[in-house]
Amino acid sequence: MRIDIVTLFPSMFEGPLTESIVKRAREKKLLEVGFVNPRDFATDRHNSVDDRPYGGGAGMVLMAGPMSQAIRSVRQESSTVVFLSPQGQRFDQGIARSLAKKKHLVLVCGRYEGIDERLMDLFDMELSIGDYVLTGGELPAMVVTDALSRLQPGVLKKEEAAERESFSENLLDYPQYTRPETWEGKSVPPVLLSGDHAKIEAWRQQEAETATRRKRPELLEK
Ligand SMILES: C[S@@+](CC[C@H](N)C(=O)[O-])C[C@H]1O[C@@H](n2cnc3c(N)ncnc32)[C@H](O)[C@@H]1O
Repeated sequence: MRIDIVTLFPSMFEGPLTESIVKRAREKKLLEVGFVNPRDFATDRHNSVDDRPYGGGAGMVLMAGPMSQAIRSVRQESSTVVFLSPQGQRFDQGIARSLAKKKHLVLVCGRYEGIDERLMDLFDMELSIGDYVLTGGELPAMVVTDALSRLQPGVLKKEEAAERESFSENLLDYPQYTRPETWEGKSVPPVLLSGDHAKIEAWRQQEAETATRRKRPELLEK
């Protein structure tokens, strides 16, 4: 899969996309990430990419010209172009699973007061990472890229498999424990030390249901 990110601040991505599993995915070429900066498509001598809103009001709006050219410079026939926006559909594991199957995504990051509304026709979808307003689309683009990277076949090792974890089968994950067996007087549930795989599986299923009922009961209704 290839993801091209349209952003005024590509250096923001250096940490999150250069460590751990995402780093491994990129090194193995299971995920390619590219950046395109709308500023490279500015046409005036100040390299402007934003301007004041028509009708007045606070802040600046990203101009259609440089943004559209940046998007078109990476968009292909088969691309899915996504605008990160607090007004979008809420990103969740179901959307992550369906986007993870795409060959090419273009993630477009807004800034300031947002983008010129006339750009909307360029997008296949608008995605929000939650009902709060961030300063830009870069953090949401990192969230989406991270979630999709671990769903690429071959990225997670067998023991890290993404099949049985929170939100698969509308359940949260079961509780996990590691060494030592007793920590601050709290012991690991004995069933996990029994070596009986059927019993462990049944316990995990039950714990996943209990956790879901307690923390996210609406998932069970799905
Ligand atoms: C300050 S926000 C603009 C918010 C816009 N004025 C509004 O109220 O809908 C700047 C940019 O950050 C990004 N952004 C902010 N919050 C987001 C969220 N929850 N999910 C996805 N993108 C977000 C979008 O790209 C947005 O264009």
